[in-house]
Amino acid sequence: MNISLPNSVERVLLDEATIQQRVQQMADIISTDYAGLRNEEFLLVGVLKGSFMFMADLARRLTVPHRVDFIALSSYEDSAEATGAVRMIMDTRVDVARRHVLIVEDIVDTGYTLQYLYRIFGARQPASLRTAVLLSKPDQRKVEVPVDYLGFQIPDVWVVGYGLDFADRFRTLPYIAMLKPSVYSK
Ligand code: PRP
Repeated sequence: MNISLPNSVERVLLDEATIQQRVQQMADIISTDYAGLRNEEFLLVGVLKGSFMFMADLARRLTVPHRVDFIALSSYEDSAEATGAVRMIMDTRVDVARRHVLIVEDIVDTGYTLQYLYRIFGARQPASLRTAVLLSKPDQRKVEVPVDYLGFQIPDVWVVGYGLDFADRFRTLPYIAMLKPSVYSK
């Protein structure tokens, strides 16, 4: 299929069909693992903004009852790269205590965000705490964090689309693409 790419895009890394097929596989596995739970026992927590597309596609493919909720995080701009400092700017509405919680993330890069989330949610006495992450860049990892359900490992390149952005652009592309280095090294 011929698609016209935005100028800033170097090439498509994961096309729409490849993503959708993998999301379906992940949903099948998760549906099996969480079978038997009631709606109020199984909570998906999407991490805004990047996870919104993955969350929507994964959740609607689950065949087990579940609730959805979201959190928003922000890095401390100056120190984040060195220290991984993350803070919550919007919490879940649902109380996670005694629920089986599945954190839904678009990407694990350094691992600082997931580490923070394990710490915060782990302290709230969930019945269980796992993660579903679409993309992992293992070359960028600064702290080791477990990922229970992973979509794809990708090389250390700047990717956009399917929720991922560059300066809040390109999030709604239906595929995941590599940005031209000239765009982010300016
Ligand atoms: C991205 C992504 C993860 C985090 C992963 O969020 O959505 O939450 O970075 O990086 P880490 O493993 O190095 O912590 P970002 O801060 O870009 O916000 P966004 O989701 O709103 O785009």
